[in-house]
Amino acid sequence: MKIGICSDHAGFEYKDRLKAHLESEGYEISDFGTHSTESMDYPDVAHPLAKAVEDGTVDLGIAMCGTGNGMAITLNKHQKIRAGLAWNTEIGELVKKHNNANILVMPARFIAFEEAVNITETWLNTAFEGGRHQKRIDKIPL
Ligand code: RB5
Repeated sequence: MKIGICSDHAGFEYKDRLKAHLESEGYEISDFGTHSTESMDYPDVAHPLAKAVEDGTVDLGIAMCGTGNGMAITLNKHQKIRAGLAWNTEIGELVKKHNNANILVMPARFIAFEEAVNITETWLNTAFEGGRHQKRIDKIPL
């Protein structure tokens, strides 16, 4: 499984640590930046990640900024993207089970790193339920 990952400066440290963790588990990671704690604009990395998920270059995506909202708002401009914000493992589970989020978004400034790892593992290891949730997802694109 190939996973694309991105963050702004606020999520940079968690991104790099999470990338190393996932690589140690055997995931192939494509890093879309940012590559330092220098202040930058989250759309500059969010749009390339969204395009990579949309065209199948990566299977899934993970994005982090301070609150997660800038990333989620930007990523969800893309028609094939369902970017779901999760700040605990229960939401990490539901965002896959019910929303089939193809990009997981987390608020780096508001959760511990260990929580980010647990949310990511939960989201990766949860299956989409389909059924009534598929019908709802089919109604999202404009
Ligand atoms: C950066 O200060 C912060 O605004 C950004 O990381 C994010 O929270 C935006 O939504």
